[in-house]
Amino acid sequence: MKTIMITGGAGFIGSNFVRHMIKRYPQYRIINFDLLTYAGNLENVADVAERENYSFVHGDIADVVLVDNVMKQGIDAVVNFAAESHVDRSIEDPGVFVRTNVLGTQVLLEAARKYKVKKYLQVSTDEVYGSLGTAGLFSETTPLAPNSPYSASKTGADLLVRAYHETYGMHVNITRCSNNYGPYHFPEKLIPLVITNALTNQEIPVYGDGLQVRDWLHVQDHCKAIELVLHNGIAGEVYNVGGNNERTNLEIVRTILKEVGKSESLIRHVADRSGHDRRYAIDATKITEKLGWKPEYTFERGIKETIDWYVGNRTWWERIRSGAYRDYYKKMYLNR
Ligand code: NAD
Ligand code: DAU
Repeated sequence: MKTIMITGGAGFIGSNFVRHMIKRYPQYRIINFDLLTYAGNLENVADVAERENYSFVHGDIADVVLVDNVMKQGIDAVVNFAAESHVDRSIEDPGVFVRTNVLGTQVLLEAARKYKVKKYLQVSTDEVYGSLGTAGLFSETTPLAPNSPYSASKTGADLLVRAYHETYGMHVNITRCSNNYGPYHFPEKLIPLVITNALTNQEIPVYGDGLQVRDWLHVQDHCKAIELVLHNGIAGEVYNVGGNNERTNLEIVRTILKEVGKSESLIRHVADRSGHDRRYAIDATKITEKLGWKPEYTFERGIKETIDWYVGNRTWWERIRSGAYRDYYKKMYLNR
């Protein structure tokens, strides 16, 4: 394998994956293809941008001509991270989620088919399975039952990926992982929002009762899982990836406040998210047994390191929070 096209490589997980692959495989050529939406930031990959085996293409995965031009150069594998990724934004404006997540995926698949790309890996999410009650875990055979426009668009993409395998025999894989956290996480998402609000003494908005459960996975463990699936995944297979680390949102908030030495009086319960999934939890037996993956980070270590990263990289998030993010924040939280 020589040339890998990584889409969405200027976002949170994609940038961590670009860095991971460049360091581990200096012999690979990495093409980072990203539209640089509000969530894309070239600062996230600034430390590897000068490497000889790295190049950046500014573009939209739904742009047939541009995607074709890149793929015709000879791509061995595509790893698709590019997406609109925030559930709350999908409730406000679903259209762009369908365009990027569904149409964009189909454009990538079609070009990959045309130019006989050897492997196509779709980075999906556990949210395609919907919501769990207090018991049970999502396995790869759990029926798909998405509840938000975001998860519905990711499910549509997954079904197209599956269809390109069944119909055209393409070597595809889908990974479905739980909530990631770690460096470069955009501050609209729970963990970075709580850290940055706490560091600036702002209220912490907790949706509803705050007892919703997520299964937190350190982004570095996720990158290793994708690397394994990219190299050893069986064609057509789906792999769930989870941290085996379930926490309620309130537990997360309290842990962070304690760690940064701030009072729980900053917590403010606000109106719940519409269609809010109550609990996600992943059964990662398949990737563990078939590919030998397991998470290495404990949550205690991961959250400490993550908080330290936000403390040490204040300029990164202050710049984000002083731009268009400020209008978004007012719109979403002011009268909630
Ligand atoms: P992110 O929002 O931080 O980054 C998304 C990136 O995609 C940005 O760099 C953005 O500029 C780019 N992008 C958006 N639309 C594009 C388009 N039309 N063409 C090209 N690039 C475009 O997202 P993330 O949290 O890093 O998530 C990455 C992927 O992982 C997504 O597919 C998401 O659904 C999936 N995922 C995320 C999590 C999580 O906890 N963050 C968990 C499971 C799955
Ligand atoms: O499970 C994987 C998914 O995890 C990914 O597919 C998504 O791209 C990613 O954004 C994430 O989705 P969530 O909706 O779980 O993440 P978010 O950080 O938005 O919210 C986590 C939980 O915290 C959720 O129950 C809603 C709650 N929440 C979130 C925000 C932003 C709050 O209580 N207050 C907040 O201000």
